[in-house]
Amino acid sequence: MYRTHTCGELRIANAGQTVTLAGWVQKARKLGGMTFIDLRDRYGVTQLVVEADAPAELVGTATALGREFVIQATGEVLERQAKNPKMPTGDIEIKVSAINVLNKSVTPPFTIEDESDGGEDLRMKFRYLDLRRGPLKKALMLRHRIAHEVRNYLDGLGFMEIETPYLIKSTPEGARDFVVPSRMNPGQFYALPQSPQTFKQLLMVAGYDRYFQIVRCFRDEDLRADRQPEFTQIDCEMSFVEQEDVLGTFEGMMRTLFKNVLGVDVPNPLPRMSWYDAMDKYGSDKPDVRFGMEIHELTDVAKGKGFGVLDGAAYIGAIAVPGAAEYTRKQIDELTEWVKRPQVGAKGLIYIRVNADGSFKSSIDKFYAPEDLAKIAAAAEAKPGDLLLVLSGDAKRKVQTMLGVLRLEMGGRLGLRDPKVFAPLWIVDFPLLEWDDETQRFYAMHHPFTAPKPEHEKWFYSNKKEDLERVCANAYDFVLNGNELGGGSIRIHNADMQKRMFEVLGIGPEEAEYKFGFIIHAFQYGAPPHGGLAFGFDRVCALFGGQDTIRDYIAFPKNNQGRDVMIDSPSEIDQSQLDELKLILDKSE
Ligand code: AMO
Repeated sequence: MYRTHTCGELRIANAGQTVTLAGWVQKARKLGGMTFIDLRDRYGVTQLVVEADAPAELVGTATALGREFVIQATGEVLERQAKNPKMPTGDIEIKVSAINVLNKSVTPPFTIEDESDGGEDLRMKFRYLDLRRGPLKKALMLRHRIAHEVRNYLDGLGFMEIETPYLIKSTPEGARDFVVPSRMNPGQFYALPQSPQTFKQLLMVAGYDRYFQIVRCFRDEDLRADRQPEFTQIDCEMSFVEQEDVLGTFEGMMRTLFKNVLGVDVPNPLPRMSWYDAMDKYGSDKPDVRFGMEIHELTDVAKGKGFGVLDGAAYIGAIAVPGAAEYTRKQIDELTEWVKRPQVGAKGLIYIRVNADGSFKSSIDKFYAPEDLAKIAAAAEAKPGDLLLVLSGDAKRKVQTMLGVLRLEMGGRLGLRDPKVFAPLWIVDFPLLEWDDETQRFYAMHHPFTAPKPEHEKWFYSNKKEDLERVCANAYDFVLNGNELGGGSIRIHNADMQKRMFEVLGIGPEEAEYKFGFIIHAFQYGAPPHGGLAFGFDRVCALFGGQDTIRDYIAFPKNNQGRDVMIDSPSEIDQSQLDELKLILDKSE
């Protein structure tokens, strides 16, 4: 037997017992002839003591221990004189009578403690060492806990976990596919699933009624803090449901997670906001509603004073930043530069200080009299002491999006985005289609399997662009603190309507048949009405853990270049493998 207890287990009640522990030497230090060793395993850290008067051989072994040696230690549990209230095992220590070195370690490249001295790149390269650290362990335990709660909740409601294949044909979720060449079918490729969307719908056609899967998805897209090329979804689908049934079921799931994992109560029912309101008020389809500072439209009230920039704008909007009237000129100049960065993309920033005494000072004083500024301030619901930040432009949604980014920035600067405050909500009533000026065609806002709202079907079958733009979908996103945690929709379950959708998206009948024939055919065999959604599991875990970055909630993530620097992947393959696959590489670049 390697151990009687784990390193996180012993308490004062164990005093007097003889125990054996096994684990890693986090730290060994000498103090007045005694050796203190912090022994670590997954469960915690326990202090070992080798007394100065212990047998010479034991003292010698203890002295020779290096960081990350794996040892087994036997001894008596003693009450500590100097207790450490920060450690669960801080009331006791082990007076060691024997140490057995199970394996040595070379000196690790960084310290394996909660606060490490290792840089990001180094820790990614030695991920297995980084994973020994407390914060990562905590993150993965949280992930495990959430997965367990999800399975429990969904199983309780009769959902079946069913695996779907990873070697498939492209599913259109809007990103690029990762493809896998087929040796047995030279010149042909599988695609890795961007999501199991089509398969879960086929499971509904097959009559499985309630499906879920905690499933890996693959998307070849630009990476950000909340995006990995392979990530995990809690993917779900239900038959014979309307939007209301889906929202009820899954806000129940999220409410259970908040309660059981974090001990947090969230409103019942959760708030809902239409996509149009979210865009108008927050400049985002994933609004952070932990704070106000909503966008106000000023297009009518701010025009007509001879100021060309505003007079020529199609849309003018503003946010009132509470208490920021005291911003200095320098601070405002810095903000102006900030909104001009390509990530925001504004041409400039107009400010109006609403001073505490009710007077105004603005960058447009030349054109606007105090009464004009008062009207603008009233329209923007600015109070004395606020700083009004105004943006304008020729496209409403574009300006709103910029104001939304500015709003988040100001919310952050004012400390209004506390990760321990949770404000979940549903965004509903999405437009079904999105027009792209560049390619002159419609794209599915969610994906091409989302159904139009029944009352909008008349527009869906119209050939006028303005009609198609008006069509809303029974689509919904679950949003938390400015992050899209999940999304889904009621689906098309009628073969003709699905064909019409492909037609609207400019996918001709032949291409539709080639790419999606399987699902159109399946719909001819009694497809039930169905709908569902998928949550980004990594994002749920990260936000529950109080972080925006999902990387530390994944055991072995990729870096921002999509590389696994630990195993050094992607990498070249042998010529023989290429030959077998009948692939010839173009090495000209
Ligand atoms: P969608 O594309 O919105 O919907 O994805 C669902 C959720 O998955 C998460 N997500 C990601 N997480 C990490 N890294 C990524 N690269 C990444 N991409 C997406 C997000 C997102 O909300 N099949 C549909 C769902 C449905 O209609 O049922 C789908 O995949 O949190």
